[in-house]
Amino acid sequence: MQFIGNHILSVDQFERGDIEQIFSVADKMEHYALRRRVTRVLEGAILGNMFFEPSTRTRVSFGCAFNLLGGEVRETTGFKVSAISKGESLYDTARVLSGYSDVICMRHPVPGSVAEFAAASRVPVINGGDGANEHPSQALLDLYTILKEMRHKGRELDGFRISMIGDLKYGRTVHSLTKLLALYKNITVTLVSPKELQLPEEYVERLRSVGHEVVVSSDLSLGIGHVDIVYSTRIQEERFASKEEADIYRGKFRLNQAIYTKYCEPNTVIMHPLPRDSRSEANELDNDLNQNPNLAIFRQADNGVLVRMALFAMILGVVDQVDTCSRGVNWYHRRDV
Ligand code: CP
Repeated sequence: MQFIGNHILSVDQFERGDIEQIFSVADKMEHYALRRRVTRVLEGAILGNMFFEPSTRTRVSFGCAFNLLGGEVRETTGFKVSAISKGESLYDTARVLSGYSDVICMRHPVPGSVAEFAAASRVPVINGGDGANEHPSQALLDLYTILKEMRHKGRELDGFRISMIGDLKYGRTVHSLTKLLALYKNITVTLVSPKELQLPEEYVERLRSVGHEVVVSSDLSLGIGHVDIVYSTRIQEERFASKEEADIYRGKFRLNQAIYTKYCEPNTVIMHPLPRDSRSEANELDNDLNQNPNLAIFRQADNGVLVRMALFAMILGVVDQVDTCSRGVNWYHRRDV
């Protein structure tokens, strides 16, 4: 795809070569993400970071990524502090905010709303999550993490085995990641969820249509054996009619060290888009996994900065100038990464 000046709204926009290009640029961002060097390539540019649903990782890492490229960030968080609460339309909001920004990231609870906003925007828009629909930058960082973890074991993406667990019906990260997996070859995908929260058929069909083996199960112990990656997800409480309805499913698929040791192959990588629900009634990835070197959830979150830096550099057309606008740093920088 043509990245410069374009929106990123769905992973449907990508072909495999596009993904490889994004990952190659992301690799080159590591020095800057770790603050070993600084670049001012986006000096003077402004990111409008518009989040109308709660977020920690996506909002802050998009902001950090832009800052690390030398740009400035302006934020709106929640409807209450936005004029949308006074009845302003998405169209007007997009026309106005795109006059203040060079690129906009947006999260909104309604599926399709970010695309509607983008259609009125005068600058590129990146979808930071639209309801239960898609979360393209998360899928990219998830796949980037899977690639890194597999390469660490001398493997590639083609032919790997993944188990996706939890709320597969409403989990937008699973929806986007599933579509990306369809770009690769011979993947075995095990889908573990309560019957009511199964992955919608369109995504299952997409996987099967390219020849991937898809196993559907509601048994965690069977689902996590014989896979390379366990990808756990949270019950998406905010998509249910009530908290009580979500409570029915909470805590059904807990993974802890004892279960991992009993059922997983050695060195199975554990991922989660986060936030993990660490309340006692959910505890989907128990804290006793925190010392397990195969718990990749924080490496995964760190990778979000690299991938989002790559997207900004590609959309704003500065990939080739990142290094020429850089210099070393003169402060103490962390070395434990
Ligand atoms: N993974 C993710 O989207 O996290 P946040 O909700 O914190 O942005």
